[in-house]
Amino acid sequence: MLLSLCLILLGASAAKGQTCTDIPGKLQQLDAGAGEVYGVTTSGSIYKWQRNVWVQVPGEMAHVSVGPAGVWATNKRSSVYKLQDNDWMSVSGLLKQIDAGGDKYLAGVNTEEVVYCLNRYDTISGSPYTHFTTIPGRLVYYSCGRLGCWGVNNASDIYFRYNVKPTACEGSQWWRVEGSLTMLEVGTDGSVFGLSPDGKVYKREGITYKKPTGTSWVNLNFLLQVKHVTYDAGALWLLSLEGDILKCEIPGTGLSDLV
Ligand SMILES: *[C@@H]1O[C@H](CO)[C@@H](O)[C@H](O)[C@H]1NC(C)=O
Repeated sequence: MLLSLCLILLGASAAKGQTCTDIPGKLQQLDAGAGEVYGVTTSGSIYKWQRNVWVQVPGEMAHVSVGPAGVWATNKRSSVYKLQDNDWMSVSGLLKQIDAGGDKYLAGVNTEEVVYCLNRYDTISGSPYTHFTTIPGRLVYYSCGRLGCWGVNNASDIYFRYNVKPTACEGSQWWRVEGSLTMLEVGTDGSVFGLSPDGKVYKREGITYKKPTGTSWVNLNFLLQVKHVTYDAGALWLLSLEGDILKCEIPGTGLSDLV
């Protein structure tokens, strides 16, 4: 009891005006979505956050994502896998970064920064034979949520993809959003959080159904340098440069109330 209180106070000191908790362990990357959280360590071990402990998942992956489309991962050779019946099923396609946050469709980029998506039909088919759609443009990170997909390129420029649909995930056009981010994650509810090149955490404000691109970036003023961020169900998960894990309570867009 005393120990957990100390941990909470320690976490809170990492941010101004945020309620944060230190989470045990060290991770290279993590993803929260559809009420679940998965992460990978630098050596490729996979963990699932379950009843407040990390439970190891068999296998070795470099990047993992969880969301309405299920649990997907890529290994260090960019092979794509889907967690099916507690086993990793190899799926056709080569991706470096993958995102399962869309409405049962999938998105990601490969090592050449080519942008891909996979329509809902293919994510739920259960078949290892999939047909990824190529989206024009080059990105280093691409993430989807309720109101569409956001990405960043190798110059830290930010883009929103218009008219992404679960059955037509290629969308229609890119919209350049002001600002500069190295990665961003869209929550299942449509909330958008990103990292600036110097490791500061920003939240996109003003996102509505009418204006899915939002209105402004707000610095959340965390007092630590962050290397990865993910958001789901009122919780923002951060990884420090050293891989330490912090979970902070942050209200989302509130869009889930409207649907
Ligand atoms: C950045 O992306 C552009 C294309 O969008 C490409 O021409 C360029 O080589 C890339 N730079 C690096 C350093 O990868």
